[in-house]
Amino acid sequence: MSTTNESSPLPFLEGRAHLGLGSWHLGQGRRDWDTEMQALIAGVQLGLSVIDTAEMYGDGLSEELIGDALRQLPPGSGQPFLVSKVLPHNASRRGVVRAFEASRQRLGVRCIDLYLLHWRGSTPLAETVAAFEELKAEGKIRHWGVSNFDTDDMQELWRIPQGRNCVVNQVLYNVQSRGIEYDLLPWCREHGVGVMAYCPLGHSDLIGDPLLAEIGDRHGVGGTAVALAWAMRSGQVIAIPESGSAEHIHDNAAALSLKLDADDLARIDAASPPPRRKQPLDIL
Ligand SMILES: NC(=O)c1ccc[n+]([C@@H]2O[C@H](COP(=O)([O-])OP(=O)(O)OC[C@H]3O[C@@H](n4cnc5c(N)ncnc54)[C@H](OP(=O)(O)O)[C@@H]3O)[C@@H](O)[C@H]2O)c1
Repeated sequence: MSTTNESSPLPFLEGRAHLGLGSWHLGQGRRDWDTEMQALIAGVQLGLSVIDTAEMYGDGLSEELIGDALRQLPPGSGQPFLVSKVLPHNASRRGVVRAFEASRQRLGVRCIDLYLLHWRGSTPLAETVAAFEELKAEGKIRHWGVSNFDTDDMQELWRIPQGRNCVVNQVLYNVQSRGIEYDLLPWCREHGVGVMAYCPLGHSDLIGDPLLAEIGDRHGVGGTAVALAWAMRSGQVIAIPESGSAEHIHDNAAALSLKLDADDLARIDAASPPPRRKQPLDIL
């Protein structure tokens, strides 16, 4: 596997880095609003321009925080690539349009770059895809994708009209959860679907991990940069770590120029072996 994280072979990203910014817990009082907003701005300025959010996060508060950050971005900061998600219970043809409009308003934008189905619910996939295609035809979203889809879900999506227009599957992936390497990651690579890795820091379980810290010491970076560079090493994966701290985001951004060598990868494999058989998709 290549260990270069600087360029993007995923055309929809238009050359942006494969490292973005998550936002599940942002805008909800863990830190004050301005601190988290400035952290997002700092991240975009460091080149972490894919911002991931969802109508679900803080019931819209995360999208509002991101909207404030976008309005305060200094000129020349680059154009962030916005990702948001519709909840399964809003995934009907009309529900998608309503949910999209509310997200768009909270974000304060005309167009959302990438709109995802957060996870599968009872609405037929074909209906959600039709709604996504309608938003795309109207120029309201640029691309659409899915989240928490296992290989059989992707195969089903590929069988429905326009299902092959999906550009991303956002799933849980980190050094302690490698099940997707067995079948889903190869399937997505073969079918030109980008994989967005959520919980790339194990939802904070990997913070302070001794092996990652030791590998990081060798490269003059922290363990979180190692975890992120590892997640992005195939060139097919976009990692979206969350942080409300500009300092932590700065540490994470070191992953952009970190090249893990064969010895680093072997040590991680020894501690967390790649899957040898199909595993159910991990979901948080
Ligand atoms: N599609 C889905 O179903 C789904 C599910 C889960 C998550 N997501 C997306 O993926 C994003 C990331 O996942 P996640 O938030 O669950 O977990 P994560 O990114 O693996 O971990 C986030 C945690 O790591 C801490 N952290 C980040 N950088 C750090 C650093 N350099 N040093 C120390 N601590 C650091 C953060 O705290 P600080 O704020 O203190 O830095 C936060 O507690 C979410 O925010 C969301 O956008 C999607």
